[in-house]
Amino acid sequence: MKEKVKHIKEQIQSFSASSKKEIEEFRLKFISKKGDITNLFTELKNVPPEEKKEYGQLLNELKNFAKEKFQTLLEKTKKDEAGGNDEFPDLTLPPSADGIGSTHPITATRNKIVSIFEKIGFNISEGPEIEDDWHNFSALNFPPNHPAREMQDTFFIEKDPDITLRTHTSSVQVRVMESQKPPIRTLSPGRVFRNEAISARAHCVFHQVEGLYVDENVSFVDLKQTIYHFVKEMFGKNTKVRFRPSFFPFTEPSAEVDISCNICGGDGCNICKHSGWVEIGGAGMVDPNVLENCKIDPDKFTGFAFGMGVERITMLKYQISDLRLFTENDLRFLEQFRHVGF
Ligand code: PHE
Repeated sequence: MKEKVKHIKEQIQSFSASSKKEIEEFRLKFISKKGDITNLFTELKNVPPEEKKEYGQLLNELKNFAKEKFQTLLEKTKKDEAGGNDEFPDLTLPPSADGIGSTHPITATRNKIVSIFEKIGFNISEGPEIEDDWHNFSALNFPPNHPAREMQDTFFIEKDPDITLRTHTSSVQVRVMESQKPPIRTLSPGRVFRNEAISARAHCVFHQVEGLYVDENVSFVDLKQTIYHFVKEMFGKNTKVRFRPSFFPFTEPSAEVDISCNICGGDGCNICKHSGWVEIGGAGMVDPNVLENCKIDPDKFTGFAFGMGVERITMLKYQISDLRLFTENDLRFLEQFRHVGF
């Protein structure tokens, strides 16, 4: 009998299973009521009484050994099924789809703005984020020491000569006009920087999209129609647009562009400060001095320009009330934009 116990123990020890079927075979052979171990228990009755205790213990140990082995085999196949077999990873499994990111809402809005303007013939241009005084201010008709410069709280990298982080994408207007001849129809998306305290409505780093159209006979009517078209495409045909007279050193006349608040539908809310209108950017006719600074003949050519805030437009489009959400990288916020696409 000792021989039999030893033999069965060896069989159990060396048993390996790679499928549920083989585990079931193991159970039938060793553990079930008709299995080898149960058979040994029935043989106990033939053992002389003084040896019964010893054999009883031996068989119980064998039974427990078989049960433990059974559990181990079960767990191993479960792991394999879940693909978690550390020893032999299944290299043929397709990669898990978890963890694929989504487009950031700011990127999605910028892409949408770009596609709207590309369809009406605007090309895309870019300029550096670190700018010299000429491109950010002087060429744009900001006189030295003029209070207009104080409109923009600037981050300076160097003083005399001034090197700054650009405060607006209007600097790209200058770069394009210096290097190209009219007709110019260009859109310049980019990041801009202002020394401002961060709040729900303001940030020191944000995004703008600049538009510039220079040709013969470009008028304010062209500007208005272009903006109307954009707002309809971006926010839907029921959104209203208004131009409020304003001032920028580089445009004359200048306007600020408001749209009807699509958060409250124009009834008045916190976002529109109960006015029913929200500003999306500035615009105007390119000042002849700017054309001249860029060596474009102001007697022959006219142009319009506009600059819009991408954060502001995104907040209105998706009804987001705090600008800080864009930079906090909270996945619960970002994952809501999966449907927006690229
Ligand atoms: N650059 C201006 C700003 O940052 C916006 C603007 C662009 C106004 C072009 C007029 C023309 O606020």
